[in-house]
Amino acid sequence: GAPVTADISALEEGQRLVLEWRGQPIWIVKRSRAVLDALPTLDSHLRDPESDNADQQPAYVLEGNREFRSLKPEVLVLVGLCTHLGCAPEMKAEIRPEPFDAEWKGGFFCPCHKSKFDMAGRVFEGVPAPTNLVVPPHHYVDDNTIVIG
Ligand code: FES
Repeated sequence: GAPVTADISALEEGQRLVLEWRGQPIWIVKRSRAVLDALPTLDSHLRDPESDNADQQPAYVLEGNREFRSLKPEVLVLVGLCTHLGCAPEMKAEIRPEPFDAEWKGGFFCPCHKSKFDMAGRVFEGVPAPTNLVVPPHHYVDDNTIVIG
């Protein structure tokens, strides 16, 4: 499939832009500083906190802070499909303990079989999804323009 271009100039903190690339939903999420600060505190609850599985993201998104899984800290790009059986996870951008558990710091929740991911798409322990959500290949053309693919 052809690459897809996204204009993120209007994207605000806590918002998600949804596009389609190769028949898959692509999410672009703007993360707040508070969300980024929370990510390293979650590592002990996650199955693959360092994102060591090379199939789950391009290597270049791990060159900065591995816990962010992104080229720019605040902008997360994901394939919006649960890695269990492909349902669409819901985004819960806010940091609060309810309705999930005390470790919840925002992220993605799959309603099909209750898999839980953080705001870097990293999967929690003890859920059916086997791996982190996938970061697709992408790059910036300028500050507000991302090409997926
Ligand atoms: Fe998401 Fe099963 S498809 S938990």
